[in-house]
Amino acid sequence: MKITVIGAGAVGATTADNIARKNFAEEVILLDIKEGFAEGKAQDMMQTAALLGFDTKIKGVTNDYLQTAGSSIAVITSGIPRKPGMTREELIGTNANIVKGVVDNLVKYSPDIIIIVVSNPMDTMTYLAYKSSGLPKNRIIGMGGALDSSRFKYQLANKLNASPGDLNAIVIGGHGDTTMIPLINKATWNSIPVKDFLEENEKEEIVQKTMVGGATLTALIGTSAWYAPGAATAAMVESIALNQNKLFTASVYLEGELDESDICIGVPVIINKNGWDKVVPIQLDEEEKAKFKASATAVRAMNAVLTESNII
Ligand SMILES: NC(=O)c1ccc[n+]([C@@H]2O[C@H](COP(=O)([O-])OP(=O)(O)OC[C@H]3O[C@@H](n4cnc5c(N)ncnc54)[C@H](O)[C@@H]3O)[C@@H](O)[C@H]2O)c1
Repeated sequence: MKITVIGAGAVGATTADNIARKNFAEEVILLDIKEGFAEGKAQDMMQTAALLGFDTKIKGVTNDYLQTAGSSIAVITSGIPRKPGMTREELIGTNANIVKGVVDNLVKYSPDIIIIVVSNPMDTMTYLAYKSSGLPKNRIIGMGGALDSSRFKYQLANKLNASPGDLNAIVIGGHGDTTMIPLINKATWNSIPVKDFLEENEKEEIVQKTMVGGATLTALIGTSAWYAPGAATAAMVESIALNQNKLFTASVYLEGELDESDICIGVPVIINKNGWDKVVPIQLDEEEKAKFKASATAVRAMNAVLTESNII
């Protein structure tokens, strides 16, 4: 299987690295517009193959989409990252034009491709990719919930002094500091509700820390994070490539699910060889429903920029 990763920056290179280490793909094409950049990153990663024991071939290319022809899956990470104090929303104008151009090129050379969108503001970029690509809705997936859910589990594990892998917890809604919804009342520690172990103020603290997880790292590092985003994206790619039917929360195009339509926003979905196969029905309580509605309203406001700026 051939997989393309667009953008050889922090998240794109880490995604390619994680895919190669998992050793399920024959070839990863890493593409960037910066001359020689993807080639250099690919060579560096290939020089770990003998040490790490993988056979995946990573090939770096400079803006040459012919090399991506016949890809089954593409990951879009191209764009500018969030700077300290910058909201994901502020990224929209620059990244929309980049993502649109990339989608056109990917579909031209790989008409049957499944696209995972990572570039921010991710829900809006996923909506843009769906609208501009002409691909069936199940072949466009936004990566945000997989990362936010992993950050949620990290916060829960810290508080409970537990193993992160023992936590079962998801984040739905938009992929933004104020729009994501960590579903703490549905989270479990190996089937036991975490709320049995936590005071109200502790639950609130975990939810808040999860919501500002990305911004916290941006303030510390000076740019947005890449290890967890790359690992989360590679896990989704693996679930498609190996038809694993894993449940992730991901941003997908809704047509009535959770009472929302004509929007891409984070909901639980099954990821397999078809892309996202179905939205998993989830019962939300009244408070969760209200938060989801507010989140959708915020995402829609960002989507409106696309039409106002004549991008779609
Ligand atoms: N969805 C998420 O959960 C999540 C998490 C982290 C980062 N992000 C987003 O991912 C994107 C990438 O972040 P990063 O830290 O890797 O940034 P980065 O600056 O390290 O890498 C971006 C790369 O894209 C390249 N690029 C720009 N325009 C291009 C084009 N037209 N074609 C091909 N390549 C192009 C740049 O040359 C650069 O190498 C940002 O938008 C960031 O906000 C999303």
